[in-house]
Amino acid sequence: MKVLLLGSGGREHALAWKIIQSEKLEKLFVAPGNAGTGIIAENVDLNPNDFPAVADFIEKEKVDMLIVGPEEPLVLGIGNYFEGDKRFDRLMIIAPSREGAVLEGSKDFAKEFMYRHNIPTAAYKSVTYDNLTEGIEFLRTLKPPYVLKADGLAAGKGVLIIDDLHEAEEELKDMLQGKFGKASEKVVIEEYLTGIEISVFALTDGISYKILGSAKDYKRIGNGDTGLNTGGMGAVSPVPFAVEAFNKKVEERIIKPTIEGFKKDGIKYKGFVFFGLMNDNGEPKVIEYNVRMGDPETEVIMPRLKTDLLTLFEAVANKELDKAEFDMDNRYCTTVMLVSAGYPGSYEKGKPITIGEIKGSIVFHAGTKFSSDGKVVTNGGRVITVSSYGNTIEEALSLSYNNVDKIDFEGKTFRTDIGRDLLK
Ligand code: AMP
Ligand code: GLY
Repeated sequence: MKVLLLGSGGREHALAWKIIQSEKLEKLFVAPGNAGTGIIAENVDLNPNDFPAVADFIEKEKVDMLIVGPEEPLVLGIGNYFEGDKRFDRLMIIAPSREGAVLEGSKDFAKEFMYRHNIPTAAYKSVTYDNLTEGIEFLRTLKPPYVLKADGLAAGKGVLIIDDLHEAEEELKDMLQGKFGKASEKVVIEEYLTGIEISVFALTDGISYKILGSAKDYKRIGNGDTGLNTGGMGAVSPVPFAVEAFNKKVEERIIKPTIEGFKKDGIKYKGFVFFGLMNDNGEPKVIEYNVRMGDPETEVIMPRLKTDLLTLFEAVANKELDKAEFDMDNRYCTTVMLVSAGYPGSYEKGKPITIGEIKGSIVFHAGTKFSSDGKVVTNGGRVITVSSYGNTIEEALSLSYNNVDKIDFEGKTFRTDIGRDLLK
């Protein structure tokens, strides 16, 4: 089959890496892709948010399956765009509907969904400027720190955690008055959850699901979880503290009711669900939903997936996921992300990347491209990531770090403590 994958990050390179291993694949296009996807597939200069252009390409190339990587086109409703158009009757689309994507696009909607379906999550109140007083009253009932979330997508910056009540009240006003533009016209005020964060991923056809396992990502730029938040500096899968009893609770209390919730609410959902969880002394609670895979979590989950991905996606498209075979590798996988100097602040692009002989790791490109003279150069904050398997986390990390040394570009920056907190 011919497949079009939308996106351009490490996540998409990891998905493409898995897809090209499928015997069912005739041709893979990635739009817009990066240098890594350009090596293993054909990059297409298309904007994933430009649905008419995507549709024209699908029609022209007779694409059989469309896979959507990032959240923006999902929240904009790409899942619904092709519906009812006869030209695309047979197109398999791996994307939740717009109604499903709101789980990521609106924190208020996600909280209502969880409450409606009895899914454990932090207590909350959603406010707009009209009921600011109620918001302030609710804040005063909470213990510090205070969690304020812009309702809409705010490029990962819309969550504030504030120690001081007075400051939280002022921030709440600022947010409602447009600190994050339209995204914070509504604010979700939440109870602060304690514990350790963990993410769990599932693939669903809206009826049944397969659990792709757990991962931990490292969000801060600096060692020891210091400094600014990034898109993710590394990841480990599975997470060792996700023991059987915990995983069972996640499945029974969170994953099952979420998929049941889609059915009850009439939400069409074919794609990935990313459960951002807090493990509070063995009790899982949902911090957030994302309606896509994580990045760099995909770079540790895809290597662990043994089953053919296109076969799974076909089963999703045909709503036959319950009958599909499914198997994950029991080994650990770790990834270490190399970023540009200055990231997540401003950074330079266009630095040539040299990659030596990589042994025992998989290199996934993120922000890279081919320069006009055909060299691989940096093209983003997160540049390239090195994933490795191991029977222990130490073994996987040691391979990743050995191979990190073989990749070079001006300003290469990375954390040296990925996974350390998980070692006993
Ligand atoms: P979100 O965008 O909802 O994932 O929030 C970003 C980050 O803020 C999360 O990864 C958590 O580290 C933190 N966070 C969000 N909500 C809470 C909460 N209710 N309690 C504690 N930490 C939170
Ligand atoms: N690594 C977190 C995310 O993809 O949102």
